[in-house]
Amino acid sequence: MTTLTSISDTISATLAAGWSLPNMKDIIELAYMISAGLFIFSLHWMSDPKTARRGVFAGVAAMAMAVLFTWAKPDVTRHLWIIIPLALSVWPGIWLANVPLTAVPQRTALSHAFGGLAAGLVGTAKFLYWFHNEPEMLTSFRVAAIVLEVLLGYLTLTGSVIAAAKLQEVKWIPQRPWVYPGQNIVNLIAFGVAVVGGAVLIVQPTAAYAPYIFFGIVFLALNFGWMLVMPIGGADMPTVIAILNAYAGLAAVAMGFVLDNKLLIVAGALDGSSGLILSIIMCKAMNRSFSNVLFGAFGQVQAKAAGGEQKSYKPETPEDAAAMMGQAGLVVVVPGYGMAVAQAQHKVRELYDQLKKKGVDVKFAIHPVAGRMPGHMNVLLAEAEIPYTDLLEMDDINQDMPVCDVCLVLGANDVVNPAARYDKNSPIYGMPIIDADKARMVYAVKRSKNPGFAGIDNELYFLDKTRMLFGDAKAVVGELVKNLAPSASMH
Ligand code: TAP
Repeated sequence: MTTLTSISDTISATLAAGWSLPNMKDIIELAYMISAGLFIFSLHWMSDPKTARRGVFAGVAAMAMAVLFTWAKPDVTRHLWIIIPLALSVWPGIWLANVPLTAVPQRTALSHAFGGLAAGLVGTAKFLYWFHNEPEMLTSFRVAAIVLEVLLGYLTLTGSVIAAAKLQEVKWIPQRPWVYPGQNIVNLIAFGVAVVGGAVLIVQPTAAYAPYIFFGIVFLALNFGWMLVMPIGGADMPTVIAILNAYAGLAAVAMGFVLDNKLLIVAGALDGSSGLILSIIMCKAMNRSFSNVLFGAFGQVQAKAAGGEQKSYKPETPEDAAAMMGQAGLVVVVPGYGMAVAQAQHKVRELYDQLKKKGVDVKFAIHPVAGRMPGHMNVLLAEAEIPYTDLLEMDDINQDMPVCDVCLVLGANDVVNPAARYDKNSPIYGMPIIDADKARMVYAVKRSKNPGFAGIDNELYFLDKTRMLFGDAKAVVGELVKNLAPSASMH
């Protein structure tokens, strides 16, 4: 009791001496700073498998803080307008979080679509509110920010929906680049019209015709999304998604300026720059330039699957393959999209354990664009708790390939195709590959004779040293495990 009295006396004395308790505005600013810091740490932690989980929690905490403290702002009075969208977002959020791992690229595209839609709607609402109620708020700077926000927001919305549809391979969207003569010119003219419209709006934001121009820009922005994404082929969609990520981030930055919200500016800048860096990394890993991805469909004849002469595969049984692997010194597993489709990662872990028990050194060769999204293989193998010290980046593992006894190509195709080294007509020419062909013996697991994502044959499968293990990756690896198990060797 005495302690409580003395605390209250101290507070009263401090206040009397001219100190004041922090007001809500200061608390919110502080919370925003902490939230911004958490976003930065979140990105940093997510770059390493050891700390990735912590990174996810930090990101969730940062976002929760951002929402709660924005809600706590004194000028937010209509709470129902926050509760309704929050309630509406629960089901789509749960649905998006539960898509299979193979659908994560299109899931990511849909998240960007929502981000773009939010930016576009906020920009539209702000412009109309200020136009009708507080026209003096429509300064040149704010209008410029709104125009940018609306352009990038709506463009991201439609572009991301088309990208998600292409990745999902829906029937009504062509997978191949959709091009027509003069497409670049039409896009440029449309972009020019939007820029002129934006300039007029900045100069005359309160003119009676301003809302017409504004909605003209919205209309064009909604069209830019599909106009930009339709000419790009399905294979480049993951890169396009990273670019749309950058657009969504920039839209959030513009929204931050419109709403005078520093946290949105910081978070948007982080989002935008990480999207840009990611797309550059992906382009590099595929040895493609940015412009080649964005405008590659123009004037470029993509090489088709090599037809004509029929080469023959040499099938092998899992029994013989297991026997060979059990005697190897070093086995290198090259996982690819097929491992993700088959969800074979847990069986791969069993294979890893069996081989380790026999004293075989097992490494995983991780190509930067194996699968359909950056880090696809790392996520799957981490899920199966394969030690990340045995996951090697392409440049590191390639040094060991000449001393590798058995290379197990598990549902990977393009990332081990030697044609990338020399065939100038190949769509994957110049893409760095895992040197599977340099191993002493290669086993390739796939279901059929169909090509991989780039739609081309893979000469690796026809080498003298290569044997095919046809079948679903999970089933084949399961067979290998069975044959390596101690009980199998007793027979
Ligand atoms: P792909 O070249 O697409 O080959 C995947 C292989 O897996 C196919 O040969 C397929 O053959 C097989 N497969 C599919 N389902 C299977 C299953 N259930 N069991 C066993 N095998 C199965 O994959 P990759 O080598 O990982 O290369 C990735 C490609 O995507 C590259 O062209 C890359 O440029 C492109 N890409 C990736 C990214 C990122 S960020 N990862 C971004 C942009 C583009 P079957 O059908 O005969 O089974």
